[in-house]
Amino acid sequence: MSRFENTKIPITKKLFIFISDLIRKIFGGDRIKRLSQIMIKISKNIYMKKRKKITILDFGCGSMQISKRLEKLFFIKEIVGVDTFKSKFKTKKMKYIQYDDFFKNNKRKFDLIISIDVLHHIGIDKSHIILKKLSKISKNIIIKDHFEHSYFSRQLLRFVDFYANYGYDIAIPKRYFDYNSWKKTINKSNLKQIKIIKSFQQHDGLFNLILNKKHHFISLLKNVKR
Ligand SMILES: C[S@@+](CC[C@H](N)C(=O)[O-])C[C@H]1O[C@@H](n2cnc3c(N)ncnc32)[C@H](O)[C@@H]1O
Repeated sequence: MSRFENTKIPITKKLFIFISDLIRKIFGGDRIKRLSQIMIKISKNIYMKKRKKITILDFGCGSMQISKRLEKLFFIKEIVGVDTFKSKFKTKKMKYIQYDDFFKNNKRKFDLIISIDVLHHIGIDKSHIILKKLSKISKNIIIKDHFEHSYFSRQLLRFVDFYANYGYDIAIPKRYFDYNSWKKTINKSNLKQIKIIKSFQQHDGLFNLILNKKHHFISLLKNVKR
């Protein structure tokens, strides 16, 4: 996961990011391939139902790697990325808005919100607050996040999170969702879970062996009140 403008990152961190990206390529750690495939499938379904091109909010977008794949599809009208850092990133179909600016000024609704590996960084006890906010601006929300299964799997997730986010000063969580805490989060957010993929294979090779599919889930949420 990299940001659009890396100029402020020290050279040692840049080197670490370069080496870790190389290791990912060699040992099956590409997380973008399968994640973008499933996001394409879900957004296509929404397009088919609406029968018009759709708008997407990528919440906690990072460098919008997944949105960059979605952008190429004919049925995507526009993608807005929101994250905490400052950037002026813009393409024909995509634009980036910093978190505070977005929530201060936004009056738009989106056909779909995607939020991939973001909520655990916000905190599993605080996630319902952001989900409530998001539910006001879209009927359809897709969350990709992690499930922990034991003390060991929690520490494994923390290690992988540290490795994946080292260069970017992102807070590493003390704990992750399990199925029960996720259910509670949904209930507190007044959202309805339409579907959950409890085990999602994100990686291949060595990366899949280290952090297997039961650590990744995808949840399709709907605001049934809107
Ligand atoms: C692991 S990265 C995932 C980036 C991107 N979604 C992806 O899958 O490639 C987590 C992202 O969440 C962002 N993030 C953390 N807390 C946030 C918050 N309160 N609001 C918005 N974004 C946040 C981080 O800045 C980071 O870019």
